[in-house]
Amino acid sequence: MKTKSEPGLKQFLSESQTRVENALQQWLPATSTQPQRLHEAMRYAVLGDGKRVRPVLVYATGQALAVAPEHLNGPACAVELIHAYSLVHDDLPAMDDDNLRRGQPTCHKQFDEATAILTGDALQTLAFRVLCHDQSMGVSCDTRVRMMDNLAIASGSRGMAGGQAIDLESVGEELSLVQLENMHIHKTGALILASVRMGCLAQPEADPKQVAGLDQYAKRIGLAFQVQDDILDVEGDTETLGKTQGKDQANSKPTYPSLLGLDGARSLAKQLHQEALDSLSIFDHDTDPLRWLADYIVARNN
Ligand code: IPE
Ligand code: IPE
Ligand code: MG
Ligand code: MG
Ligand code: MG
Repeated sequence: MKTKSEPGLKQFLSESQTRVENALQQWLPATSTQPQRLHEAMRYAVLGDGKRVRPVLVYATGQALAVAPEHLNGPACAVELIHAYSLVHDDLPAMDDDNLRRGQPTCHKQFDEATAILTGDALQTLAFRVLCHDQSMGVSCDTRVRMMDNLAIASGSRGMAGGQAIDLESVGEELSLVQLENMHIHKTGALILASVRMGCLAQPEADPKQVAGLDQYAKRIGLAFQVQDDILDVEGDTETLGKTQGKDQANSKPTYPSLLGLDGARSLAKQLHQEALDSLSIFDHDTDPLRWLADYIVARNN
């Protein structure tokens, strides 16, 4: 992946990834804790080679609003736990039936289907426990509740789970552009938006105009993220992706490349990227990490 923001991006990514990795390590129960197999599966699903885009977005939003990263480990960790759960369930035979995730056998292949279902369940509830209890957050109880509410809506039937339901109903169908956008906004956009919104909630004094700009930014990159995911499913390679290339076509999923062609999907990603940057125009240099992330989301190769 090459972008003009590479040096700054690299450092920001690696600092944020280390930060959230440490928090996840601490929150996930040890494999010596009973029931050991479930805890082993939870750690396996979360601590693999993920890009941690959603936690990095929480920290980048915090930087734009002068919130110290050490106060954001709770929401960063929580959104990654929900995301990891969504991947474990997404890979199940009843859904996308995938064997490879983050370069390793999927959770149900490494363990078994029942364990994978329970792993998703337990990761989901752990996310909300983190938001209740993380001591580093330094926010009021009211803010914690608002973060939980945001994450709950983004994860549930009106967010990610709802988007996944639409995805499954759409197998073999030809969706219109509006329907495809609706599916992607829910299945992927919702958690990306929640990452930015939780970062905003950590700053009670945030200017509503800036919050509106960040909201718009998140919606554009959330959609761009899934457009790029669809593109990579066509033109990526399994080893770099860490998941099996070509599965969307094999599973008859409607995607942006299937509807618009690869060039059409690429130009949509470019347009969404530009709109995301435009929505940050009211900010100064503190939004550099958000700009780098927008570049990264459309230029990434995994
Ligand atoms: C993959 O998400 C699933 C989508 C929502 C497109 P990521 O591409 O963020 O996966 P990891 O976390 O880096 O493995
Ligand atoms: C998954 O979308 C979105 C989730 C809610 C997990 P995909 O099914 O396209 O994700 P990948 O390609 O398997 O990572
Ligand atoms: Mg899927
Ligand atoms: Mg999938
Ligand atoms: Mg995909």
